[in-house]
Amino acid sequence: MNRVSEILGIKYPVIQGPMAWITSSKLVAAVSNAGGLGVLGTSADNEEIIRDIDASVEAMRAAIRNTKALTDKPFGINVFPEAGDPYGFSKKMVALAKEEGVKILVVAGMVSPKEIKAWKADGFTVIMREDNPTVRGALEAEKAGADILVATGCDEGGCMPGLSTGTTAITALLSEYVHIPVLSAGGIVNAKLALANKVVGAEGVFVGTRFILSKECRASDIAKKDIMDTHPDDFIVFTQSNGHSKWRTTPHKYGKEGLEANKQGNMNPPSGSFYYGMLRGDLDAGVNTVSNLSSLIHSIDSCADIVKELGDVFVEE
Ligand SMILES: Cc1cc2nc3c(=O)[nH]c(=O)nc-3n(C[C@H](O)[C@H](O)[C@H](O)COP(=O)(O)O)c2cc1C
Repeated sequence: MNRVSEILGIKYPVIQGPMAWITSSKLVAAVSNAGGLGVLGTSADNEEIIRDIDASVEAMRAAIRNTKALTDKPFGINVFPEAGDPYGFSKKMVALAKEEGVKILVVAGMVSPKEIKAWKADGFTVIMREDNPTVRGALEAEKAGADILVATGCDEGGCMPGLSTGTTAITALLSEYVHIPVLSAGGIVNAKLALANKVVGAEGVFVGTRFILSKECRASDIAKKDIMDTHPDDFIVFTQSNGHSKWRTTPHKYGKEGLEANKQGNMNPPSGSFYYGMLRGDLDAGVNTVSNLSSLIHSIDSCADIVKELGDVFVEE
């Protein structure tokens, strides 16, 4: 059995990356039932935007319970270190995970050794995804007790690493320096890409875009069609937050405005929301963001087929 599968108690080392708004209980349970690991992102089953933190936490409690009703397999939830969580939302999410018996935390943001140690002491399995991955950060996370690392390249969908290191390069680097298993994230859209990253050191994959174009993903059909229709050369990349995060979007209003703002020297343009773009399919009111390799996805498959396709790459004969 592969080390990632062993640590997480799953059949295939295929982890579905949490995606705000579109990783619902249905998607998460479908991935976990297929033998991968589903991960609930924020606003998982919400239909409307909730602005109150406690109400958001209660909505996540409902999403966790909905997931449990659909699967008896392990699944995780997305949390953020304190530095990226000024309102204390994540702290409450960790407490909620403990109350509800969710044992796997998928942490996105800067490495915080103190918090990793505290989560480990609380009995969680920690998958650490530094948003701008570095070797120093990986070593710190390993030392603090993280179980698995995610090496994210700038091929990813969503908010991309500001450092322009591709997925294969960052996977090769991190897996050379740490002893804990490394997952590749960014543009793992088919078995070939999973294999390429396995060759350079990945022991599993961490996947968003391919699962957006799945039967069980609640992204709107308009968003799915827009993603499939976008030519790979037509995606727009714009920078937000003083160069620390970049967004790749399909070519609609917010992406174009972001790009124009950057040209004028404004590195903090509004980024739009997945709620409008991806969930509601209102492309001019929000963003549609996916990997630059999305054009290599030719069909909308079930999560079971996707998990098996990518997972078979890691199953030893
Ligand atoms: C639409 C979208 C939303 C995302 N939202 C989140 C999020 O809320 N939290 C998080 O940790 N990562 C988020 N991500 C990153 C994914 O968890 C994952 O790292 C990424 O999708 C992997 O790259 P890929 O899309 O090329 O497979 C998001 C990605 C996408 C495409």
